[in-house]
Amino acid sequence: MKLLVTGGAGYVGSVVSRLLLDAGHEVVVLDDLRTGHEVAIAPEATFVRAPIHDAAQVLTPEAGFDGVLHFAGLIAAGESMAKPELYWDANVVGSLALLDAVRAAGVRRFVFSSTAAVYGNPTELPIPESAVKHPTSTYGATKLAFDLALTSEAFAHELAAVSLRYFNVAGAYLRPGIAIGERHDPETHLIPIALQVAAGKRDKLQLFGDDYPTEDGTCVRDYIHVEDLARAHLLALEKATPGEHKIYNLGSGAGFSNRRVVEVVREVTGHPLPVETAPRRSGDPAALVASSELARRELGWTPVKTTLHDMVSDAWAFYREHVA
Ligand SMILES: NC(=O)c1ccc[n+]([C@@H]2O[C@H](COP(=O)([O-])OP(=O)(O)OC[C@H]3O[C@@H](n4cnc5c(N)ncnc54)[C@H](O)[C@@H]3O)[C@@H](O)[C@H]2O)c1
Repeated sequence: MKLLVTGGAGYVGSVVSRLLLDAGHEVVVLDDLRTGHEVAIAPEATFVRAPIHDAAQVLTPEAGFDGVLHFAGLIAAGESMAKPELYWDANVVGSLALLDAVRAAGVRRFVFSSTAAVYGNPTELPIPESAVKHPTSTYGATKLAFDLALTSEAFAHELAAVSLRYFNVAGAYLRPGIAIGERHDPETHLIPIALQVAAGKRDKLQLFGDDYPTEDGTCVRDYIHVEDLARAHLLALEKATPGEHKIYNLGSGAGFSNRRVVEVVREVTGHPLPVETAPRRSGDPAALVASSELARRELGWTPVKTTLHDMVSDAWAFYREHVA
């Protein structure tokens, strides 16, 4: 298939591009590099540097695209509360322009990298797709808004659409001569922040709250290896059905506590990793874990790199070689 990957210079989109190319697809990356890295784009892909708002210039009816995998967006929940206008523009206005271009060009398949942040504070764990959607950040709200737009689009215009909702992505894609990992600036994710401490870039790690009703008092979060996540996107592309918008949660079903993450980072890096316990942050739920029962059943998705050790050691191999 000829596929457009938006956000293909970012962490997840660049790994998915590699897997698509490995599977024999033709890939065009659309990214304006506002947070991405040109070096992460697969050399075999065609790169167009532009915002998704201008997608119609690439996604013309003549270009013959079979599908779009949509990763471009802003992803920091904290920043989205301070600068909501940026998030509504990038994640909704831009995504709607992309959808207009998809319709005008007659593209048949659409896979959207959504987020489990659409659920907000969960009322049941692990979180099923049917859970109440009540996002607690502008980031989550903007992703939910586009999910809803996609549902209408699929039903009205026979688009084959799939949204994948997940929490924290971790690990790296490592092959001889290729290493793609997480490099957000500023970094807000626990594992890369802990690796910054291990690499001497920060003095200590802050753990927010140790009195939650969890096994060790720290928050429990869901992690998914970027390669397992990328494979789920390829399965979604394959299984997408015209006129349907399917939504799948992806996750471990169990999750790991923040303290457990710290222990594994210590094991993998050999660094003592000083930790300071800080007060709880407001709005942080005790546990966030997604159920991936439906994805396993309907997409045939089976994550392989499920241990924290797998994820942290791949992330560290990338970080040590390419970032530190
Ligand atoms: N990383 C995670 O833990 C995580 C968790 C859940 C969901 N997601 C979703 O996965 C997707 C990718 O996340 P990521 O971690 O790879 O983020 P990232 O910041 O590494 O990549 C996003 C890419 O999109 C590009 N981009 C942003 N806005 C754009 C625009 N308007 N036009 C063109 N390009 C634009 C950026 O330059 C960047 O290359 C996001 O949509 C995010 O909501 C990520």
